[in-house]
Amino acid sequence: MSIEKVALVTGGSKGIGRACCFRLKEMGYKIALHYRSDKEEAFHVASELGDSCSLYSFDLSEKGASEALMASVKKDYNRLDVLVNNAGVTLNKLLAFSKEEDYEFILNTNLRSVFLLSKLASRMMMVHKSGSIINMSSVAAFTGNKGLSLYSATKGAVVSFTKSLGMELAPFGIRVNCVAPGYIETKMTEAIPKEAKQKILEQIPLGRFGETQEIAKAVGFLASDDSSYITGTTLHVNGGMYRS
Ligand SMILES: NC(=O)c1ccc[n+]([C@@H]2O[C@H](COP(=O)([O-])OP(=O)(O)OC[C@H]3O[C@@H](n4cnc5c(N)ncnc54)[C@H](OP(=O)(O)O)[C@@H]3O)[C@@H](O)[C@H]2O)c1
Repeated sequence: MSIEKVALVTGGSKGIGRACCFRLKEMGYKIALHYRSDKEEAFHVASELGDSCSLYSFDLSEKGASEALMASVKKDYNRLDVLVNNAGVTLNKLLAFSKEEDYEFILNTNLRSVFLLSKLASRMMMVHKSGSIINMSSVAAFTGNKGLSLYSATKGAVVSFTKSLGMELAPFGIRVNCVAPGYIETKMTEAIPKEAKQKILEQIPLGRFGETQEIAKAVGFLASDDSSYITGTTLHVNGGMYRS
């Protein structure tokens, strides 16, 4: 890479986001690593990534946080080539028991931050007429699941958002795509009870859960010129659990 390109990964200190940071670093990007709460973990990952990494801490469910994050990245690098909208929360609750605060929290984290960060990133990318925005959806957006109505709705909305934004930003050389992971072993899936995990496993033709690096490789592909003719679409990485 002749110019020093910059990738911003939200929720980059653990799980899928962390693997994405290492993959993008391998590809030569400087990493703007966003995290929310786990300072110790974030510092540890940053030290492994070396001086190509800067850290930013914001709770993206809060008003003004996405704008503040992007302003900091702009101030430090004054360019952005890749945005990975990875930060997200799940909520395993039957709708009948859900509260208004639940909608607000999950919508603000999984959706509002994706809208705002994509908007602000696209403005920076337009300057150099290139860029790649990668949004983390989920297999749950396509299959649905009991207790996941709010979560899967946010992840389905991310897919629709990606289709329209892909069309909107194509004239500016900016591509927008989603990755929809299946069940990947991270903190998010740690809490799933053993029996439920066994049932899920039976639905996966490849017979195993996915690894974070397998999602990061898909993200790396969508960030790279190898996917130069791909925009507005969703790449399913789920061991065959859902086939589009
Ligand atoms: N694991 C799976 O099987 C799976 C499947 C489909 C889709 N996904 C999606 O993949 C993405 C990453 O998931 P993961 O499995 O790697 O989960 P994870 O290990 O729980 O990581 C989630 C990340 O999101 C950040 N985050 C959560 N709420 C935030 C908020 N309000 N503001 C800012 N950051 C916030 C967390 O930051 P802190 O920890 O610093 O608070 C953390 O870095 C999510 O969007 C998830 O929906 C995961």
